[in-house]
Amino acid sequence: DSGIGGLTVAHAIVTLLPKENIVYFGDTAHLPYGEKSTAAIQAYAVKIAHLLLEKNCKLILIACNSASAAAFDLVKEYIGTKAIVMNVIDPVVSFLQQHYAQKHVGLIGTRQTVNSNIFRKKIEKLDLGVRVSSYATNLLASAIEEFGNHRVIDSLLDVYLAHPDLENIDALVLACTHYPIIKNRIAALYKKPIDIIDPSDIVAAAVKKTLEKNHLLNNSGTSDKHFFISDYTDSFAHNARLFFGEEIQLERHPLWD
Ligand code: DGL
Repeated sequence: DSGIGGLTVAHAIVTLLPKENIVYFGDTAHLPYGEKSTAAIQAYAVKIAHLLLEKNCKLILIACNSASAAAFDLVKEYIGTKAIVMNVIDPVVSFLQQHYAQKHVGLIGTRQTVNSNIFRKKIEKLDLGVRVSSYATNLLASAIEEFGNHRVIDSLLDVYLAHPDLENIDALVLACTHYPIIKNRIAALYKKPIDIIDPSDIVAAAVKKTLEKNHLLNNSGTSDKHFFISDYTDSFAHNARLFFGEEIQLERHPLWD
């Protein structure tokens, strides 16, 4: 991920798969990804995938919707058969297919994710009558990166969640991995009770299923966690410890030095 967002998914994976080793890369030097060009995100993603491969990862999960939208195909092609490559979009599309046929679903994400129209294209292909209204909540990921789950975010949410594109929806997809960090605020500030779809557990379940299918699941031994960041930020250190406890070590790994 570009920063702390992927920690929501990493945490769900560690909870579901406690015997797996995790190597996390937060590209804090280049956030927010949502405001970057597709070409820039592709360059970062390939470079990070290369590092993860060097660390002997058997599965690489792009734990960021913006990077999944911009760079999944390219990373998959780059990695080839050397590791499994997954994104955070396909598992959510399958979830919507199973549970929201004929429903109206709202989606919030970064400018990159929403402008790519990737969710809509994938969902329309399924032809199940799921109607998707997406809205780019451009400043949210940066605000979460800076403030975490803080009340200062409420004023942004007041404006964003009142947008007409998000009216009359049955559920709201959090299509940015930063957003589950403020899930309680989103649920409280949306004008009526609706289902909030947090991709973290959905994606973790998909990772488990994929590892099982490929006979790659680790059922024994202890689990190691490594956290790399391209630039040291207090926010990353604070949030990583919030999710994973005090003992975690952060290693700075600039992508282009
Ligand atoms: N967490 C990321 C996502 O899922 C990106 C946030 C950002 O860096 O803009 O889209």
